[in-house]
Amino acid sequence: MTDLVIRKMGFEFDEPVDFNWQPANPQFSVFCNAFTFVAVPFEKYIIKVVRAAQERITDPEAAAEAEAFLRQEAQHSAAHRRHMLALIARYPGLEAVYDRALARYDELVETESVEFNAAYIANLEATFTPLFTMMLNNSGSLLAGGDDRVAGLMTWHFVEEIEHRSSGLVVFNAVCDKPWQRTRWMPKTFRHITSTMMEIVAGFDEHVPEADRVVSAAKTLSIGLVGSELARPAKRAGGPGRAPSMLHGVPRKDLRSMLWHLALSQTPKHDPADQPLPELAFAWMRAYETGADLTRFTTADAIGKS
Ligand SMILES: [Fe+2]
Ligand SMILES: [Fe+2]
Repeated sequence: MTDLVIRKMGFEFDEPVDFNWQPANPQFSVFCNAFTFVAVPFEKYIIKVVRAAQERITDPEAAAEAEAFLRQEAQHSAAHRRHMLALIARYPGLEAVYDRALARYDELVETESVEFNAAYIANLEATFTPLFTMMLNNSGSLLAGGDDRVAGLMTWHFVEEIEHRSSGLVVFNAVCDKPWQRTRWMPKTFRHITSTMMEIVAGFDEHVPEADRVVSAAKTLSIGLVGSELARPAKRAGGPGRAPSMLHGVPRKDLRSMLWHLALSQTPKHDPADQPLPELAFAWMRAYETGADLTRFTTADAIGKS
């Protein structure tokens, strides 16, 4: 019926968590922290929308996929909430940042159709496989070497987003039989998610002292990010008075592949099942099956050997 596995992970964020949890790459710290602050409200939104969609899903396979999908997302939301609360405990002003993001998603539930909201979810979820495949394929330069609790949380979430990469589309197709409609709603979807992310990073800059975040969060996730990442390697490496780019350790061929698959992900006939996937995702799932503790990420090799 569905191959999705509901994994209950015991992530611990009782000890303080640094905002800059990846000191070798403060911009990646910003990205992942912003991911946490959007994941909690976005995944609560998924649960509400899929619950509403379920009333209209008659196909048993699609119904089983929808149920497993929202159960995985509920686990993600709960785990990221623990990370988020640890950051709010340190920087109380961030609570308002979360409240605002939550309100933006509640507004979508109240004002938009189930079809639109299912398209929003399918479109955004479709971007995750290219994005997180690039990140897992470059875990050595992005995830390793920082706070292994945050790296463990991100790795798990990236793996399961890849695992349930078709679920959003299954739900959309079950409530709307017009594939073009999903593509038509793509610009509106990306305007919403972009403005939500911009508000989150502006909130980081307002409420987290510069000494702790090291870089401007708003500049890190600015629209110029893609262009600067595709610049010459020497430019990406930084220099006097210029920090390296967030993805400076990622080969440009990986970035080009990601951008190509991001573009394909928004086309009407896109099938998320059919695209390159990172070996680390499979190694992680095999390690989970053997009972390995995956709440802390150190290196991809450590997962492969567990
Ligand atoms: Fe998720
Ligand atoms: Fe997801």
